[in-house]
Amino acid sequence: MKDTYIFAIESSCDETAAAIVKNGHEVIASTVSTQIATHALFGGVVPEIASRKHIENITMVLENTLNEAHMKMEEMDAIAVTYGPGLIGSLLVGLQAAKTLAFIYDKPLVPVHHIAGHIYANNIEKSMEFPLIALVVSGGHTELVYMKEDYSFEFLGGTLDDAVGEAYDKVARVIGLPYPGGPAIDKLAHEGKDTYDLPIPLDDDTYNFSFSGLKSAVINVNHNELDRGNKIRKEDLACSFQNRVIDILTKKTMKALEEKQVKNLIIAGGVAANKGLRDRFEKLCQEKNVNLTVPPLKYCTDNAVMIGAAGYYAYKLGRISDLNLNAVATEKLN
Ligand code: KG4
Ligand code: ZN
Repeated sequence: MKDTYIFAIESSCDETAAAIVKNGHEVIASTVSTQIATHALFGGVVPEIASRKHIENITMVLENTLNEAHMKMEEMDAIAVTYGPGLIGSLLVGLQAAKTLAFIYDKPLVPVHHIAGHIYANNIEKSMEFPLIALVVSGGHTELVYMKEDYSFEFLGGTLDDAVGEAYDKVARVIGLPYPGGPAIDKLAHEGKDTYDLPIPLDDDTYNFSFSGLKSAVINVNHNELDRGNKIRKEDLACSFQNRVIDILTKKTMKALEEKQVKNLIIAGGVAANKGLRDRFEKLCQEKNVNLTVPPLKYCTDNAVMIGAAGYYAYKLGRISDLNLNAVATEKLN
């Protein structure tokens, strides 16, 4: 069978990325230019700066990817691109690049939903097994998705307010840790004890999540302690916060697996890099005989390999767009 090469572009937030993926599994080349250092100065992503940086970086990222692969654009079967959700100004840069390449080289343009990309980060090198439950945890999303087969997404529930990564970033800022807060809290949490009495957020029968209450509880503890002239035990607060996050994510995910009678679980998105989360899920999945897959660390946070992996299936299903494709800030996974 002829090999299929997808050239993929991702620019939905603060990473400018391109990749070439063969047959949906094999990474031929990957470039990620991150803007983290720039945004860290502001304690979070500044959308206007992000889009300007994407413009500065995109050509280098595209060229670097082709050079690394020793391939030409003519050899690609299709161009896949993240069209949403994300920061609109950021998305437009990658999308315009993709449309330009599709036009010049007369290639099919394949729109990829950013969350589909995160999910398919689990399909690199080995194939996902169906049916499965996907827990998507990133800076912008917290969702439970049921997949009967490739590229079929049934939304079970999601966050009603802050995404889990967003809560990590905000809590980190309050306790004086650098952006992005997730890795910093994760590291600190392992040095601390679960001593602060924080609530388990939205502990109900739905598959929805809510993290703003937990975030506010951490902010209140911090203020109250400082008001009393006490020093915050940052590592204990980080540990308590992280444990409550993991409590609710594991509880609702394990419930979904049981109710849907599914034995495959994948975790996706930037927060899937969290060591505490991985450890707890590993233990639970072993106990319940569930087959757990987590992407390699470098494919947890934003990259274009995941867009190429998802784009391959979208392309095979004929999900091709014309050059009127537009970027969208919010969009249901479909
Ligand atoms: O998937 P991603 O790169 O971007 C979005 O699509 O949102 O995720 C970025 C998020 C940030 O909020 C960051 O703090 C979080 O992932 N993150 C982590 C860890 N590494 C990254 N959160 C918790 N623990 C980590 N180790
Ligand atoms: Zn992402």
